[in-house]
Parts: sequence; structure tokens; C-alpha cells
Amino acid sequence: MWTSGRRLIGGACVSAIVIVAGSLVVSFSGGLLRSVQSGGLEAHAATTPPLPPGVSPELYALAVARGGPPTQELAALGEKLFRDKRLSVDDSVACATCHDPAQGFTDHRPGATSAGVGGQRGQRNAPTVLNAMFHTSQFWDGRAATLEDQAKLPILNPIEMGQSSPDVVVAKVRGLSDYTAAFQSAFGRAATYDDIAAAIAAFERTQYSGNSPFDRFLAGDATAISDQAKRGWALFQGKGRCSSCHAFNSVSPLFSDQKFHNIGIAAHKQNFTELARKALAVLKTGDIQQIDELALQTQYSELGRFLVTKSPADIGAFKSETLRNIGITGPYMHDGSLTTLWDVMDHYNKGGVPNPFLDGGMERLGLSESEIDDMVAWMFTLTDTRYADFNALEQARQTSLKNNRPQRDTEIAEGRKGHFGDLAPNPDVRNPATIGVY
Ligand code: HEC
Ligand code: HEC
Repeated sequence: MWTSGRRLIGGACVSAIVIVAGSLVVSFSGGLLRSVQSGGLEAHAATTPPLPPGVSPELYALAVARGGPPTQELAALGEKLFRDKRLSVDDSVACATCHDPAQGFTDHRPGATSAGVGGQRGQRNAPTVLNAMFHTSQFWDGRAATLEDQAKLPILNPIEMGQSSPDVVVAKVRGLSDYTAAFQSAFGRAATYDDIAAAIAAFERTQYSGNSPFDRFLAGDATAISDQAKRGWALFQGKGRCSSCHAFNSVSPLFSDQKFHNIGIAAHKQNFTELARKALAVLKTGDIQQIDELALQTQYSELGRFLVTKSPADIGAFKSETLRNIGITGPYMHDGSLTTLWDVMDHYNKGGVPNPFLDGGMERLGLSESEIDDMVAWMFTLTDTRYADFNALEQARQTSLKNNRPQRDTEIAEGRKGHFGDLAPNPDVRNPATIGVY
């Protein structure tokens, strides 16, 4: 792909010329996006929105590469499906039940995992759909490659929307008269399972999110975030070591390297090492199908990415989630086990939870209480301005819980206990050469 675009962070409009997979796409400030097939035979136009600061034109071009931005008509059909409880077996659960658009597209179950039909609980916490269009894979373990593949799964999952087969879903949707015209118009036929997934994915491809106070700060507004948050940003990149996994750059401003790491969340479960031992024993037999069966048994969910790759190095590894909108998408981690961003900081400050597969990027940090406060303040600046009110409520709620700190272990974080080796030295500004990493 070749692209000549304007800078990412900054003005509200985007101009870019992008060549994606043989078609030339020209977009100009907030206007029309034209896509001309390389054969020159077919041309179509769809409206592309002006991208807010913090949304990368390069990632956007990749995310909508197949045929350009979704038409409004298709996205509206997708949104209706996304919010429609009739997609579930007993008309009780919609995608929006667990990914509530008004609440940052998550379900905010305190300390718990999401609930589907009949109130059944899965093993995992619902991540936000905001910016999911930019992920190279979907789910905490990356087991779905595209939004289309992803959308087909919860509808059929027995503890989510509970439908028994794609045919049953298609028959039900075809029987809902308020959908007949929309599917005919968008796809030129009665609904198929692929069409349902395509429409939902089209809606999700309109859920890009930027324009946070932090984006406005990077764009040059020094007053957009507090001094405390600015210190937090410096710690994020420095002493906190966060950016090694929550990678951030102008082309990929997601705060995620899109990779999978064991940071020790799964190791909270007492039998984690025993689970790993059993899974490795099965792997040695070469019976891959049996591993897939293990994946379906709830407790093995903690093995994470391993269940997808069957690589022992991936035991207990999960996706470095985007930190965009993190203030409004609690509780945190794949199992929703951390209630506040202070809990998250306590987890990292002590170097995670030791286990045989812990990522090498996890080390105790020795952050002081005020440095932790700085980093939490910064994370609350990553929320899209459309959710500013909800963000303020969440910040107040989490602040009220600040003195309840089950994950805190200052002795380990500061190196008076445990076996985490020496802390990285604080930078010596007078003589940088003594630490060699400036
Ligand atoms: C019962 C609650 C529930 C329902 C209903 C539900 N989801 Fe989810 N969703 C989850 C959970 C939990 C995960 C994480 C599962 C995992 O990683 O294994 C998830 C993950 C996702 C992801 C991946 C995001 C990421 O960051 O990787 C997307 C996208 C998504 N859901 C969209 C949908 C759509 C579309 C529907 C409706 C067709 C839907 N969900 C229905 C709970 C739900
Ligand atoms: C070694 C890689 C790595 C490092 C270093 C790292 N993270 Fe993470 N982060 C992850 C992974 C992987 C997850 C998801 C883990 C899980 O759910 O099991 C995650 C999850 C999170 C979450 C919760 C996301 C959500 O949607 O629930 C927050 C917040 C977070 N990290 C912040 C930070 C901060 C702040 C730092 C630095 C102090 C940091 N991370 C350092 C890899 C890392």
C-alpha cells in the first residue's frame, strides 16, 4: 500500500490518496470517497466521514479496504441488527446487551463476565466494539480473523445468543417483515447468514473513535489535559514500560501492539499451572481436536492464545487491548477481574503474577503512589469526547474505590520482597551514559 496523506493527529479533516489492493481510492477533506477499480470499468461513490484526530487514515484505509467505507444504508441495517434482541433464541439478548453503545459498547459487569441468554455467564469480559475495526484479529485470543467471522459466533454461542444453527437464524430474520425491504435493497436478495454478518460488520466499521482530550493535546492544545496527566503520559512511555506492549505511533494510535502476552492475569486462578500441564500433555499426543475440546471447557479458557496456536509459548497469553476509551470500559482484563485502573496499576507495579509463561516485558516497576495517580489520570484522558460525561462519572466512581486495593503489594513493587531482581535505575539526567539507554 502506498499512501500520501496528511498527518494523523491534528485537524479534523483528512485528505489522503491511498492505493489498496489494486484500486485507487482518493478521499478529500470530509467529502466524497471515490473508488475506481483497476480495470476502470466500475466506479462507485460512498460518503466517507472526516476522521477525528486520533483515528489513523492509514488504518482506516486498511479497515474498510474491501469496497470502501460502508454505505449509510448498510450501516443502518447493521445497527438495527446489532440492537435487535430477536436475533437471540428467546428474544432476550442483542449484541448491544453486552456491547451497550450508550456505555462505551461494553456491559460493565462489576468484577464479572458477560451474561447471555438465561443469564448464563461465560468466562470472559466483553471488550468494546469502538475501534475493533482496526484490530488485526478479534477476541481476547484473536480466534476470529475479521469482524464478519466474529459476528457469526455470538449468535450461535449457547451461552450468548443461543441460536442452534445459521439456518435457524436466517429463517427467523427472513420472517421478520421489517427487515425484508432492507435486505433486498442492500444485497438484492432475502437475508443470508453472510449478509447478516456483513451488515453488522459494516455498522462496526463506522465505530471508529478518537477525539479524546489526549488527542487534542498531541495536536498542540497544551491545555487539553492536566499536568498530572502529562506526567502520566511520560511514565507510560518511560518508567512504567507500558508502551512496549501498548504500542502507540502516529500510524497506529491504538495503544496496542496487536500481539498476545501472558501478563499473569490467568495465573490468578489457583490451578493455572495444572491446567497448562494437562494441556501440554494432550499436545504431546498430537491430538489437536482434543485441544479444541479443551478450549470449550470453561476452565481452559484461561489458557488464552494457546488454544488458537497450540504453541506452548502462548499459554495464558491474551491480546494487548487498546487503551482508547479505557476510562469507560471497565472492569478490566479478559476476565473482568480488575475493577479500577488503580487495580490495573497495582497489578503491573508488582510485575504481574509470576507463572511459568510470564512475558519478559513484565517486571516490577517501583512506581510511587503519586506516580500511579498520574498514570490513572492520564488513562482517563483517552476517552472520546462523545463519552465525556460518562467518563467523568466513571472517574468519580473509580476514585471512590481508590482505597480498596486488593492487587496492591508495595513490598514487591519496591523490591523489598519477592524475586524480581533490581529495579531499572531512575534516569540520571546528569550522566545519561551511566545507564546507556537515553
Ligand atoms: C453475552 C454477551 C455478548 C453478546 C450477546 C455479544 N458479545 Fe461480543 N463479546 C462478548 C465477550 C465476552 C467477548 C470476548 C470473548 C473472547 O474474547 O473470547 C466479545 C467480543 C466481541 C468482539 C471482539 C472485540 C475485540 O476487541 O477483540 C466483537 C467485535 C464483538 N464481541 C461483537 C459482537 C457482536 C457483533 C455481537 C452480536 C452479533 C456480539 N458481540 C454479541 C460478549 C458478548
Ligand atoms: C508485556 C506486555 C504488556 C505490558 C508491559 C503492559 N501491558 Fe497492559 N495489557 C497487556 C495484555 C496482554 C492485556 C490483556 C491481558 C489479559 O486480559 O489477560 C493488557 C491489558 C491492559 C489493560 C486492560 C484492558 C481492558 O480493556 O480491559 C489496561 C488498562 C492496561 N493493560 C494498561 C497497561 C499499563 C498502564 C501498563 C504499564 C504500567 C501496561 N498495561 C503494560 C499487555 C501489556
